[in-house]
Amino acid sequence: MQPSVVVAPRAEQRVEAGHLWIYKSDVLEVRAEPGDVVAVLGARGRTIGRALYSDRSQITLRLLSHAADPLDEAFWRRRLEQAIGYRARLAIDATAFRLVHAEGDLLPSLIVDRYGDYLVLQSLSQGVERLLPILTRLLVDLLAPRGILARNDVKVRALEGLEPRVEVLHGDVPPSIAVREGPIEYDVDPWKGQKTGLFLDQRENRVAAMDYARGRLLDCFSYQGGFAMRLAPRCDEVAAVDISADAVARIAANAARNGLPQIQAREANVFDELHRLEREGERFDTIVLDPPAFAKNKASVPRALAGYRDINLRALRLLNPGGTLVTCSCSYNVDEATFGQVVHEAATDALVHVNVVEKRMQARDHPVLLGVPESYYLKCFILRRLA
Ligand SMILES: C[S@@+](CC[C@H](N)C(=O)[O-])C[C@H]1O[C@@H](n2cnc3c(N)ncnc32)[C@H](O)[C@@H]1O
Repeated sequence: MQPSVVVAPRAEQRVEAGHLWIYKSDVLEVRAEPGDVVAVLGARGRTIGRALYSDRSQITLRLLSHAADPLDEAFWRRRLEQAIGYRARLAIDATAFRLVHAEGDLLPSLIVDRYGDYLVLQSLSQGVERLLPILTRLLVDLLAPRGILARNDVKVRALEGLEPRVEVLHGDVPPSIAVREGPIEYDVDPWKGQKTGLFLDQRENRVAAMDYARGRLLDCFSYQGGFAMRLAPRCDEVAAVDISADAVARIAANAARNGLPQIQAREANVFDELHRLEREGERFDTIVLDPPAFAKNKASVPRALAGYRDINLRALRLLNPGGTLVTCSCSYNVDEATFGQVVHEAATDALVHVNVVEKRMQARDHPVLLGVPESYYLKCFILRRLA
């Protein structure tokens, strides 16, 4: 008999509104094993579609299709082809970008990033974990990568009862891969770098920020210098600040490799550094704030908002009139309106007037799925300080 899960009317409504997740509290009956692809049935027996089933996560079901037919290998091939074909049409000016963005590509809980000739993937549910052999085979067939690395050392896997694991699924994967973003070259560590190696979601925001960058630039939470490297050719002096010693060492190496001697990298806590710069009367013409997700869950939102308010207030005080602040939040628990409100409060507290020049989001290779608010996680506002 086919595995199946019966869900409550509230789950049916949620799925009809475009969401792909069904929570444990809306599950009425389970006839399935962990990681199965199941038929999802309404309380009156109506077929709602097919989904990945997890017996551990609060997200019990992740919808794959509204169709009733069982999902064969051709289904996974089609989904991967659609995701890959979309990126090909974007004509991305980089050799590192996202090929599969989970829910955004109707491949929930699967991430696949391309780094040159290599792929780095993340499997974030019991269902995708079970499908890894098929998915690996299809990715090899469609893209002929030299190697595929599973960076399955992410914390969210614990919610699925999956252990952290980093392993090669195909070919060989070296400790360092050379990639290009526009004219900038990076050496990426796919084994230990943050996320899958780079923050690919900011690529288009880095390009957008180039239009405004000038003078003295302060790149806060700089990681390997993504913004610093792109904006440096337009600036006289660049200070990049990150708390990670490894990231700071890599900025220095990347700056030398790309012939950008104006970049100085410092290992510091940005909260302390902003205080110090203010105390010492420093001023900048361009500031980037790209912190990690301060709100990892709903409970941490108030504290996160206080953090966003604090760094934005200090950055606006450090900014010369006429200067540009590129300010970001990658917490999906803080929506665009709330983030805008926090930035507004920071401007009010700093006694400055600010124009919103651009409201931006994650790059197009990280598509948002309407109906799944969690898939819109990165907000990036480009602001101009007036008086
Ligand atoms: C979202 S990433 C930044 C990505 C980067 N802007 C880019 O374009 O590649 C956040 C970075 O903040 C760093 N970080 C986290 N907490 C920090 C803190 N309190 N002070 C300084 N850096 C911090 C992390 O090491 C990480 O590199």
